[in-house]
Amino acid sequence: MTTAGKVIKCRAAVAWEPNKPVVMEEIEVAPPQANEVRIKIVASGVCHTDLYHLFEGKHKDSFPMVLGHEGAGFVESVGPGVTEFQPGDKVIPLVVSQCGECRFCKHPKSNHCEQGWPSSNSVMCTRDSRFTCKGQKILQFLEISTFSEYTVINQRAVAKIDPAAPLEKVCLLGCGVSTGYGAAVNTAQVEPGSTCAVFGLGAVGLAAVMGCKAAGAKRIIAVDINPDKFERGKVFGATDFVNPKDHSKPVSEVLHEMTNGGVDFSLECVGSVEVMRSALESCVRGWGVSVVVGWTDLEDFSARPIQLLSGRTWKGSLFGGFKSKDGVPEMVKAYLAKKVKLDEFITHNMTLDQVNEAMELMKHGQCIRAILSISPQ
Ligand code: CU
Repeated sequence: MTTAGKVIKCRAAVAWEPNKPVVMEEIEVAPPQANEVRIKIVASGVCHTDLYHLFEGKHKDSFPMVLGHEGAGFVESVGPGVTEFQPGDKVIPLVVSQCGECRFCKHPKSNHCEQGWPSSNSVMCTRDSRFTCKGQKILQFLEISTFSEYTVINQRAVAKIDPAAPLEKVCLLGCGVSTGYGAAVNTAQVEPGSTCAVFGLGAVGLAAVMGCKAAGAKRIIAVDINPDKFERGKVFGATDFVNPKDHSKPVSEVLHEMTNGGVDFSLECVGSVEVMRSALESCVRGWGVSVVVGWTDLEDFSARPIQLLSGRTWKGSLFGGFKSKDGVPEMVKAYLAKKVKLDEFITHNMTLDQVNEAMELMKHGQCIRAILSISPQ
């Protein structure tokens, strides 16, 4: 029996208010409207941005909503005007859209599509949504919401992927892994033979290490206050490890001594303004490039202008600089060709019902990535 054109009732984890556990509910998912695709979500990673929004975000007006934005699934049905997708296609929702028409999509240097949430508003949710629960509208986090068996997304924020791709692995390319990998390869443009430092060894940082290695870096120094993470860092290509807690002087000084004056490239994958500053100060003068990857929209950062006057560059990277609809299918192909690792990020396999438990593990640094199985394939 086809569900196309009908309202689907399904299970979803609803975040009714900030700083509270999410609640499993039955929700109604409306059929896709013009240019929209309704997707059956099979698997979803739990990303720091979900936790950040629930526990630290300032966007109190974006509740109630369904979190989750690192997912993969099948197209269930398509709305009017959709020609790119058909029911049964394997897809990954995109945290940054690619409409292909706006001046940002057309510009070779940017992936900041004008149609997506980063430019349209600051609340990181659509004002509109296809979800209701108990008669109330439920918003879609980052226009996506993967902690739900079904979701509806505009086709500019959906990528069709290789049918051979295992959804419970490639879902990681919807956010964390592409973000870290692309920050090294696309934004920093790490060069062969260079020395890099990656601050923070969560999924994004580990993916940045993998990107530095893929770009040919000779030395990759991983910086984290949790030494348990170094073994996993080695798997992705880290060559040295620095625990700032082992040193009485600033970590940037430690790195300067280790590298004869600073690293060529540094990537901040924590989301802390203090760490952003030390990542910049860890770079070599003359040509060092530091990239801000970690997310925070609550605080200001600071540094001495001499850091830039002496030839360093400070940049930021959103979704690894990938034009998303082009980049994600390529990353899926790279995984299938064993050029990109994904399995090594996964520390926990859980179900949608365990989403609160997964977020707690993440909050306490006890997991790199938990993959939630959402609905059966
Ligand atoms: Cu994310």
